[in-house]
Parts: sequence; C-alpha cells; structure tokens
Amino acid sequence: MEVVKKNSNNNLLSKIATNNGHGENSPYFDGWKAYDANPFNLQRNPGGVIQMGLAENQLCFDLIQKWVEGNANASICTPQGSTDFKETAIFQDYHGLPEFRAAIANFMSQVRGNRVKFDPARIVMSGGATGAHETVAFCLANPGEAFLVPTPYYPGFDRDLRWRTGVELVPVVCESSNNFKITREALETAYDNAILANIKVKGLLITNPSNPLGTFLDKDTLKDLVSFINEKNIHLVCDEIYAGTVTSGDDFVSIAEVIQEEPTCNLDLIHIVYSLSKDMGFPGFRVGIIYSYNDNVVNIARKMSSFGLVSTQTQHMLASMLSDNKFVENFISESRVRLANRHDMFTRGLSQVGIGSLESNAGLFIWMDLRRFLKEPTFESEITFWKIIINEIKLNVSPGQSFHCSEPGWYRVCFANMDDETTMIALRRIKTFVLKSKKLEIKTTRQMWQSNQHLRLSSRRLDDMLTPHRMSPHSPLASPLVRAQT
Ligand SMILES: Cc1ncc(COP(=O)(O)O)c(C=O)c1O
Repeated sequence: MEVVKKNSNNNLLSKIATNNGHGENSPYFDGWKAYDANPFNLQRNPGGVIQMGLAENQLCFDLIQKWVEGNANASICTPQGSTDFKETAIFQDYHGLPEFRAAIANFMSQVRGNRVKFDPARIVMSGGATGAHETVAFCLANPGEAFLVPTPYYPGFDRDLRWRTGVELVPVVCESSNNFKITREALETAYDNAILANIKVKGLLITNPSNPLGTFLDKDTLKDLVSFINEKNIHLVCDEIYAGTVTSGDDFVSIAEVIQEEPTCNLDLIHIVYSLSKDMGFPGFRVGIIYSYNDNVVNIARKMSSFGLVSTQTQHMLASMLSDNKFVENFISESRVRLANRHDMFTRGLSQVGIGSLESNAGLFIWMDLRRFLKEPTFESEITFWKIIINEIKLNVSPGQSFHCSEPGWYRVCFANMDDETTMIALRRIKTFVLKSKKLEIKTTRQMWQSNQHLRLSSRRLDDMLTPHRMSPHSPLASPLVRAQT
C-alpha cells in the first residue's frame, strides 16, 4: 500500500476549522505566548515576563480555602460528602441541579446589592461566559447578521460570537474625548453604517462594567440604550461578568434594575450573560450563565446548553458555597476592599512617573494612557512600543488595538492576578524604564541644544525644530523609542 503523505493543505478540514476565527494571531494572544516562553517567577526566573494580560481575580483565595476547609460535606470527594457521590455522578439533566440554580440566582442578586431578584427557572448553564455568548448569538442571529458592539471591547468576543456562528460584529466607535461614553450618535452611526453595508443588525452587546475600561455605565446611559434597542426592535445583550467586581460599593446599576423602571421596554429583547470567572475568581470551573427575559430564548438556550454543561460535581459544591449568605456577603465586601487597595496601589505607582489612566472603579485592570510614548499616533507605533514593553520592561500588557480601540496609545494592564510583591516589581520596572527614558530625553535634548548652539542655530536647523512634526508630543525626542531604535 502506498504511504499517504501527511497532508498540510486545509482541504481535508471544514471552513470553520480553517478560518482562523479563534483569533490566536492577534497581539492579545501574542503577549500570552511571550509570557509562556519566559514566565516570571520570584525565585526561579525573577527576570522573566510578568503576566499582566490576564483578567483574573486571585486576591481572595484564602477566604475560599477557609470555607472549603470548614465545609467538607460540600465536596463529594471527602468522607463527609461521599454519600452524595453516586447521585451527583449520575445526574445529567440539562436544567441543572435545582439547588445550584437557586444558589446562582441568589448570588446574582447579592452581587447587585439585592436590589433585583433573579428567577432560578431562567438560569441556563453554559461553559463560562464564553459559551454563554456563543449560545446567545446562535439563538438571536443568523450567519451574516450582526451585533453592534461599543469599542474598546473584550477581544474574546471576536471568537465567541463570530467564529462558529458566522455572526458579525459592527463596532460602535467610542472615544477618549468623552471617556469612551456610548453616545446615541455613535450608536446611530454604527447602525446606519451596517445598513449601508447591507448587514442586518440583530442586537447591541454591551459589557457593563467594561472590559477593558474598568468603568460602568450610569443609569441614564442604560435607559438610553434600552430606548435605542426598543426603537430599532433589536436585542440587548448585557455582559455583566464584572457585576460584583466593583470597588465603589452600591453604585453599579444592572440592566435588571433599569428594566424594572422602564414599563414600555419589550422584555423579550433583554438578555444577561454572567459567569463566576471574575466575581468569584473561578474561571477554571467554567460556570457561565445565560439569563434571558425571553421564554423562547430560555428554552432554546437550555437545549443548546447540552453542548456545554457545568459538571454536576462543580454544581454540587457551588450550590453549597453560594447559598451560604454570610460567606458570600463577607466575600463580596472583602474582595471589593482588596481590589480597591490593589487598584489604588497600582494607579498611584503609575502616576508617580507621570503615567495616567482612565478613571475607573471596576474590573481587574487599568486602561493606561501611554499615548505620549508613541513615536507617532499610529497603530504601528502602538505595536512597536508594545514590543518594548514585552521585551525590555518584560510585562505582558495588552495593546488597545486588540480591543478595537479607535485611538492608538491605550494599553490594558491587569492587576489582580498576582501577589503584592510581584505588583511592586512590575511597578519598579515601569518606573526604571520611564526614568531612564527621561534621562535619555534630557541628554538628547541637551546634545541637540549644544550642537545647535555650535551651529549658532542656523536657520535650517531652527526650521527643523519648529516644524509641527518635530514639536509634537509624539516627537521622537520625547520618546523612548529613540532608544529602541538605536
Ligand atoms: C467581558 C468578558 N466576557 C466574557 C469573558 C469570558 O469569561 P469566561 O471565563 O467565563 O468564559 C471574559 C473573560 O475575560 C470577559 O472579560
């Protein structure tokens, strides 16, 4: 028999398998690869890359561990809990364990200050918010139809909503001039652009609180969004995965609260995506939730959830943990305090070396403004500077373009996936870098000044220095890129 050569062409595979829809080639994932190749470790590799591209909440695992130790019967793998092993192992109903759905509904209310109630009958499981988004997209849109998404947005949406569904995303361009607010004008423009391009818009997807901005929407904006989607008769999908990851207490407003005050809102258009990956810090458990106010969506999503159920072992343990109201209450408030402290420590450290960021009070990250470090206000310069951050400062942060930010020079830096010591080292590296580049800047300016004096400021040199390009804040004179290029 002739030996068949290993076939490298893609004809053997499906279009979905070969269309690169996972997005692994984006800078967002490149940063992770750089970290994987040289990961920081305080003892074993102190010069390695510090992972600041991961929105993980690791600040409260001591509280979780204590609860686990005090509640051995919540696990089916302990002598105290093993009597539930068989029943748990054989349960496979896609509705999920009733006690799990009740506990999740209760937890969702608690992280929203108990101002709204959630109905356990509407809780649908999925494999993380990742799976939830795809399921919602499958339920609401056909291939080629689109969701509007305000920018900057979580890069995973390009994979989760688009890859296997064939659904499109149309950016709603938000700008730094008004702190990236979602305006009616920007929504209408995006909607009209989609129509001009012959794309049918089926919904608006918002992330509230926002990843990567770390801000949340005020009630008036949410009301405006509700009236926009009702006018257009399109869906509103609200990713509230960071609902409990808010440092300023009760200020966050959920869409669930807003629709209570909007009697004319068509509830069939409203859907919430949630997960325990951020508020509890359990991305490994893959607990995603679709909470829809539309009965048909609940029913269909539940059937689809067969493709991404949460293991009953996990449901069993979490049902116990999340129905412990005292523990949850303490966990949420302590988590807020620790996040706020870390957030302040990081922003203070940055501001000491003149690095600003968008004012924020939610999420696990800061939206850093590094525009002044770019040689030119272009996305090429943004990537060039990002390479310096990865290769010289050795921090994996994520460049704004991977979040579809419309303006170059913004970078997301995560601060809750490490201990205090690593945070201090990261800050020290940033400070050292900025101070070094400042020295270089002074030296370069002085050298220029001396040589210009030497030349007695010949008119040609003077012209050079005064041209807007030379004097812009993006001038190479003011940029550490000078160092990188030489
Ligand atoms: C806004 C947003 N949605 C969804 C996800 C995916 O979450 P999960 O781990 O639950 O799939 C993330 C993860 O970073 C996120 O930031």
